[in-house]
Amino acid sequence: MGSDSDSKATPQERVPRHVAVIMDGNGRWARRKGLPRHRGHAEGAESVRAVVRECARLGVQELTLYAFSTENWRRPKTEVHFLMELLRTFLAAEMPEIMENRIRLRAIGRLAELPARVRRDLERAIATSSVNGGMILRLALNYGGRQEILDAAKRIAEAAVRGEIAPQDVTEEALRGCLYDGQMRDPDLLIRTGGEMRISNFLLWEVSYAELWFTPICWPDFREAELRTAFNDYAGRERRFGGLGGEPLSAHGGRRNAGA
Ligand code: IPE
Ligand code: IPE
Ligand code: MG
Repeated sequence: MGSDSDSKATPQERVPRHVAVIMDGNGRWARRKGLPRHRGHAEGAESVRAVVRECARLGVQELTLYAFSTENWRRPKTEVHFLMELLRTFLAAEMPEIMENRIRLRAIGRLAELPARVRRDLERAIATSSVNGGMILRLALNYGGRQEILDAAKRIAEAAVRGEIAPQDVTEEALRGCLYDGQMRDPDLLIRTGGEMRISNFLLWEVSYAELWFTPICWPDFREAELRTAFNDYAGRERRFGGLGGEPLSAHGGRRNAGA
């Protein structure tokens, strides 16, 4: 943390291929300004725009954003409603730019439990953008890491009951293939804004060898410059994956998943 080198561009081979972000601190940002919490969420949507655009420009292949956790239903109904409507507004407003930048929208989580209107808009946006070949923008919605592993285990158990898989065939790859997005590569860099140093049930399976970046900056203030600072810090790290190191970070770049 605290790299002052954000003015320099990160060499392309050291740009993380998959970036995952826990977008936290919207409420605190608003409170500090004497504003209601929802104003923090609205301003946070502006950060999403900025970060998506910058990641695409820098050559990131996948960007996964934690937008709503399975635990966030515990919030007041009015806040949950605001967040759901904000997502729909975001999708409607951003489609032209998503198409222009050839971004492929995807979603992970228990999507069937989202309100019908949200699911409908989301499915439409995913279908429309599926023709694109650029960066994957993956929204984690009603997402929980434990639930994802649990849902994968259930799918495997069901396949076993049908006689389609034997216990010895339940490999890491088999389980990975049953996660919400079987195509997703492990995140290289996990960013959390807002100052908390925790994972909060995000991508538990997938982050096993992710590089972590925590910043006290609240999400609404996290923009291009902050992203570049995180990328530059990442670029200077040595990833060892349990080995002895000495290999450049890019040596692992060709592999789909850490250690695989
Ligand atoms: C993140 O900001 C947005 C969501 C979790 C949806 P918060 O709303 O958690 O903001 P803080 O953590 O209360 O400041
Ligand atoms: C994590 O933030 C979830 C999202 C960013 C969507 P929270 O604000 O819900 O996390 P906790 O409750 O502080 O752990
Ligand atoms: Mg929070």
